[in-house]
Amino acid sequence: PYVVTDNCIKCKYTDCVSVCPVDCFYEGENFLVIHPDECIDCGVCEPECPAEAIKPDTEPGLEKWLTLNAEYAKVWPNITERRDPLPEAKEWDGVADKLQYLSP
Ligand code: SF4
Ligand code: F3S
Repeated sequence: PYVVTDNCIKCKYTDCVSVCPVDCFYEGENFLVIHPDECIDCGVCEPECPAEAIKPDTEPGLEKWLTLNAEYAKVWPNITERRDPLPEAKEWDGVADKLQYLSP
């Protein structure tokens, strides 16, 4: 599957959700995740993210993010329509190590 990673946190542009053919995005307060069992690996969401936060889990070092996507996908609500990004998305885009700011 594809996974949402660090740079989505505090940006949450949501361009990704409107293109997913199987609606497998789940939304938290300042991050969203992909349900790994529902993602069909089509890859169309990856280039849509302005923050380049979506990656295939075949990339090395993403185990932590895959686990996190799977865990939150079980408890967060489904999101299928694009919304406005978080108000400070531009300022937070590219900031390192944002995991500490994730709202569970
Ligand atoms: Fe949805 Fe395709 Fe992205 Fe998976 S890779 S989350 S199926 S758009
Ligand atoms: Fe996040 Fe990028 Fe989607 S910032 S909400 S993964 S478009």
